[in-house]
Amino acid sequence: MPGDKSISHRYVLLGALAEGTTSIAGLAPGADVASSVACMHAMGAAITRTGRGALQIHGRGRHRLTPADGDLDCGNSGTTLRLLAGIVASHPFRSRLVGDASLSRRPMRRVIDPLTSMGATITAQDGRAPLEIIGADLRAIDWTPPVASAQIKSAILLAGLAARGTTIVREPLPTRDHTERAFDLFGIRHDSRAGYAAVTGGQCPVAPAGVLQVPGDPSSAAVWAAIAASRPGWSVEIQGVCLNPLRLGFVQALSRMGADVRITESAKAGGESVGLVRVAFGTPQTATIGPEMVPSLIDELPVLAASAALGGGLRVSGAAELRVKESDRIASLALGFRQLGVRMTEHPDGFVIEGGQRPSGGQVDAHLDHRLVMAFTVLALSASGPTLITGADAVAVSYPGFHADLLRLCQ
Ligand code: S3P
Repeated sequence: MPGDKSISHRYVLLGALAEGTTSIAGLAPGADVASSVACMHAMGAAITRTGRGALQIHGRGRHRLTPADGDLDCGNSGTTLRLLAGIVASHPFRSRLVGDASLSRRPMRRVIDPLTSMGATITAQDGRAPLEIIGADLRAIDWTPPVASAQIKSAILLAGLAARGTTIVREPLPTRDHTERAFDLFGIRHDSRAGYAAVTGGQCPVAPAGVLQVPGDPSSAAVWAAIAASRPGWSVEIQGVCLNPLRLGFVQALSRMGADVRITESAKAGGESVGLVRVAFGTPQTATIGPEMVPSLIDELPVLAASAALGGGLRVSGAAELRVKESDRIASLALGFRQLGVRMTEHPDGFVIEGGQRPSGGQVDAHLDHRLVMAFTVLALSASGPTLITGADAVAVSYPGFHADLLRLCQ
C-alpha cells in the first residue's frame, strides 16, 4: 500500500518545525501530502527528496518558520489546511491559506473558533477558505470540538505547542491519534488517552534519530478489502497496513457485513503497528454502523457502501460529516450509485443501501473526490455493462498508483 496519508502529513509538518534533520521513508505519494511538503518548503524548511517516497527535512527548530512569498496552496487537502492553520496561528506574521474548489467549500469555523480563542486573528469567506491568519503569542485553551475530528484536534494541539499554558482537547468521540503518536517520536511531552489530549506550550519538536517509516494506508487498503468482499470466490491479502485501531473500523464493518477478515500484526513502524489484512468473500449479511463507529471508518464508508450494495446491505447513521468531505459524500454517492443502477436512500446523517443489487454500469462523475473514484470502481467491477468514471484522476490525491494496481489485481 502507499504510505498512510494522515501519518505522512504529520511527519512532514513536525519535521519542518523540529530542531534537526528528519528522514522519512514510505511517504504517501499523493497530491495531498505534496501540498503539505510544498507549504513547509515555502515557509523556510529545507526539504530534499532522497529517493522514491523518501525525504529529508532540515527543520526550522528554534528559528521558527518564515513568511511564505505568496499564498500557501493546500490544494485538495483538508488535513494540510487545518493543521497548517494551527501552526501558522503561533507565527507572528500574515499567512494566506488557499485551496481548490472542493477545499474552498469545506467548513473551517471548526478550526477558526479555537485558534481565535487562543489569540490568532483569522479572516475567512463565510467560514471557508481562503483563510488569512495573523499569528500571535497564543494562550492555551480547554476545548471541546463540536464534531469528532482528528484535524480539529491536531490543529489545536499544534497551536498548543507554542501557547502559554496547557492546551486540552476533549473529543465527543475518540479520533485517530497519529498526532499524539508522532509527538512521542518528536520528543514532545503530552498527556493523551482515548478522546482526550493535552500538551503544554513552549516545546520545540526534536528530529527523531534514524528513519521514520510510514506504514501502509488503511484507507487505501480498504478499497481492495471492499472489492474482495463483494464477489464469491474473491479474496485479497494486503501487506504492510497500518493497524492503528482508530483506523480499523472498516475491518469490523466488513466482518459485520459477513466477509471473512483476518488481521496479523507483524511489526512496528514509526509509532504504529503494521501487519497483514486478509479479506475473502464470506456470507453476506445486513450490517448497521452507528455514530460511535463513524470516526474509525469515515473515509472508508464510500467503498463499504458499494461493497454492501453487492452483498447484504448496510445502514449508516451518525455520519453527517460525510457531507463536508471532499464532496458531499452522501449526496454524491446516492447520485453516482443511481447513475450506475444502484439504489441508495439518503438521510441527513447517513444512508441505507439494500443488498443483492446488480449495477448496470454507466457514466458517473467523481466530483473532485478520490474516495468516490474508488467506490464507483467497486461497483464497476460487478456491473453488467461498462462504466466510465469522469474525473477519475482525482484518485491521485491519495493513491496515484490506484489504476495500475487495479489492472494488476484484475489480471
Ligand atoms: C484526517 C482526519 C479525518 C479524515 C481525513 C484525514 C486526518 O478528517 O476524514 O481524511 O488526517 O486527521 P476529520 O478530522 O475532519 O474527521
